[in-house]
Amino acid sequence: MKTEVLSALHPVAIEMAAEIIKNGGLVAIPTETVYGLGANGLDEGAVAQIFEVKGRPQDNPLILHISGPEEIERYCHHIPQAAYDLAEAFWPGPLTMVLPAKSNVPLRTTGGLSTVALRCPDHPAALAVIRASGVPIAAPSANLSGKPSTTTADHVLFDHDGKLPLILDGGPCRVGVESTIVDLTGQRPRLLRPGGIGPEELIEVLGVLDVDKAVTDEISNDTVVHAPGMKYRHYAPQEPVVIVSGSREAAAAYIHRHFEPGDRVLCFAEELPLYADCNPLSYGSEEDVNTLSAGLFAALRELDNPEIHQVYARCPVGGGLAYAVQNRLKKAAAFHIVDAEEEL
Ligand code: TXA
Ligand code: MG
Repeated sequence: MKTEVLSALHPVAIEMAAEIIKNGGLVAIPTETVYGLGANGLDEGAVAQIFEVKGRPQDNPLILHISGPEEIERYCHHIPQAAYDLAEAFWPGPLTMVLPAKSNVPLRTTGGLSTVALRCPDHPAALAVIRASGVPIAAPSANLSGKPSTTTADHVLFDHDGKLPLILDGGPCRVGVESTIVDLTGQRPRLLRPGGIGPEELIEVLGVLDVDKAVTDEISNDTVVHAPGMKYRHYAPQEPVVIVSGSREAAAAYIHRHFEPGDRVLCFAEELPLYADCNPLSYGSEEDVNTLSAGLFAALRELDNPEIHQVYARCPVGGGLAYAVQNRLKKAAAFHIVDAEEEL
């Protein structure tokens, strides 16, 4: 199959995408977070293709992308007030809610669960395709399973050339890390994955928020987790990554002591001069966490090279979006963190 890449700015491309989705096919779609591999979320056969192309385990459910809060009731029941409050505050935007699923949502989409994840993306092309196709679009991040997420049309083409008919090119994704996921099916709202909406912002609306173990701890494959996707190895380049925490100076001293030819350093733009002899790669500015979240996955993809032996990574501190960047880097590093201050 030939994979076409068309600018999402062309109305014709949106029409083509909607036709493909209506006919049970796959289209890669830009969102404000990452590119998604989309199909009709109500069509089991279409959804099955997502799992096949992505190489995704069958028990890992998909997010249904809808065009606004008025669609929540079509796919969910027993909807708490908190869902409407969150939608009002953050939709369209990088927030996904888990709610009890109605029976019209196929088990293929929910990975066999009785709940479904819903999100209204803040991207004109994604919204246009959802509206033009007239169905909710099930879409995981468009990377091959286990690889860093896709934040450009080129990333999607690299992973899936020849395996789907159309990639809509909307340019690089603005947020760059996936949506925040909140489970609203329990006694108290629970954060299943940090993302574009920070925990502090959620607490402002919800009052309380539990944080799932999968967010903070390393999860082994047999642990029961609330977001099935959190247990799989994620975002990871092929070679080991270690996060080096501590001050700029302490980290540079630690890395210089351990650096060997064939290693790489993933750092902030401000730190590039410190690592001039260590083949450094910057993923953004420490001063502006938006640049770090937007640049992280492209950088992890560049480091996904078997010739690299070891990656030393610098990680931002703080809450908000930095919390999501920390989470993705920790997962890429399999929670391997050294404190350079202690190693002095
Ligand atoms: O920003 C995003 O959320 C992107 C864009 C394309 O919208 N999508 C995305 O999808 O990141 P994916 O499939 O890569 O990650 C979805 C996560 C997985 O960890 C999955 O296990 C979890 O959401 N999930 C989906 N449905 C769920 C449910 N009913 N209950 C708990 N977790 C769920
Ligand atoms: Mg993903």
